[in-house]
Amino acid sequence: MELRLAEVFASIRAAQAASDEPLCAYLYDLEGLRRNAVRVVDSLPAGCELFYAIKANSDLPVLQTLAPLVHGFEVSSGGELAWVREHFAEVPVIFSGPGKLDSELEAAVAQHVDCLHVESLNELQRLAAILDRTGKTQAVLLRINLALDSLAETTLMMGGKPTPFGIPAQQLQECLAWLHNYPEIQLRGFHFHLLSHQLDAQAHLQLLRAYLKQVRQWCEQYRLSIAQVNVGGGIGINYRQPDRQFDWVDFSSGLSALLDKSGLPGVRVRFELGRYITAACGYYAMQVIDIKRTYGKIFVIGRGGSHHFRTPYAQGHSHPFHVLPVDTWPYAFPRSAVSNERVSVVGQLCTPKDLLAFDAPVETVRCNDLVVFPYAGAYAWHISHHDFLRHPHPLQWYLPVEEGAHAAREQA
Ligand SMILES: Cc1ncc(COP(=O)(O)O)c(C=O)c1O
Repeated sequence: MELRLAEVFASIRAAQAASDEPLCAYLYDLEGLRRNAVRVVDSLPAGCELFYAIKANSDLPVLQTLAPLVHGFEVSSGGELAWVREHFAEVPVIFSGPGKLDSELEAAVAQHVDCLHVESLNELQRLAAILDRTGKTQAVLLRINLALDSLAETTLMMGGKPTPFGIPAQQLQECLAWLHNYPEIQLRGFHFHLLSHQLDAQAHLQLLRAYLKQVRQWCEQYRLSIAQVNVGGGIGINYRQPDRQFDWVDFSSGLSALLDKSGLPGVRVRFELGRYITAACGYYAMQVIDIKRTYGKIFVIGRGGSHHFRTPYAQGHSHPFHVLPVDTWPYAFPRSAVSNERVSVVGQLCTPKDLLAFDAPVETVRCNDLVVFPYAGAYAWHISHHDFLRHPHPLQWYLPVEEGAHAAREQA
């Protein structure tokens, strides 16, 4: 995963120089995003498809960059579905998520989603009533919450234990028996998303092996003929040790062999990745307003905070950052600085929870310098409580895709 830091830092510096207030900004590197998506798509073995889970970042320029590269978009609400359909009439869409409203199921059917991922018998029954009323059919995957003996847990588990997500494996038989009487619901296969934040390529291969083994067993046991297994998202970003990212090369090369041995010939394997696709394209920049030493700790206070960038607090990590020196200092008094010490980076909110980095070593940081957080392109702005304290929203801009890059790929 390549970060284009030189281009990004130059752009942030230019914005800071043009600003008459301390800078607070999100910058998204669309060329970096394009390259990352191409790298992932091109390494997938035949029979695999990549959908992008737009919940990670649904900004239009992000979706426009990805649409020509991925097989489609995964949405998890009627709002996301409407947003995608407003801008991409033709892109294949799949619809997941718990607690779908009847109106959302109806919209999914009307908008021709490629596949609905059903989360419960109740949802199947409500879908059947809609299909009955409209005379339509719908392809579905059953999302199964699978308990696996050797499941290596990550910091964010959506299954493998009691959670609100998916159908517990023990209830599958009842769902299948019920489906027999409803041919308007076409069972295309199974959907799993047991975890996010996976950092270990071999552990992820093992998880996928377990999914496919279980699916093969169900196919034999219930005499099913299925076309697809959706293995969810969940590839993580190593925020704590950014030099040690998920080994995608190891993963994608192991995947080929795994699929060959799955005993499910012709079954397509779909991924719906969010964080791994967009996290690395986003940067959150804060200009330092104040530096305080207090009771043995140092706090660097930047413009902005967790109301813009909630990722570190949400995941409980100290987010990595870069310091970009800004040499201008507009005051007559000397500016505060710290060198070769450990600091916490905080924002402007009146809560000790407004903590973006802690115990982080810095060479030097001074008031008016810029602190830039990488890996802020997924579950960052979009999961933050923007209007808390009514601070203004950050500036936001996009570094464009290199001219002709999409066209060159299409021709290749
Ligand atoms: C059903 C489902 N699929 C895909 C994703 C995307 O996960 P990630 O961003 O970890 O790849 C999520 C995230 O919550 C999800 O719930």
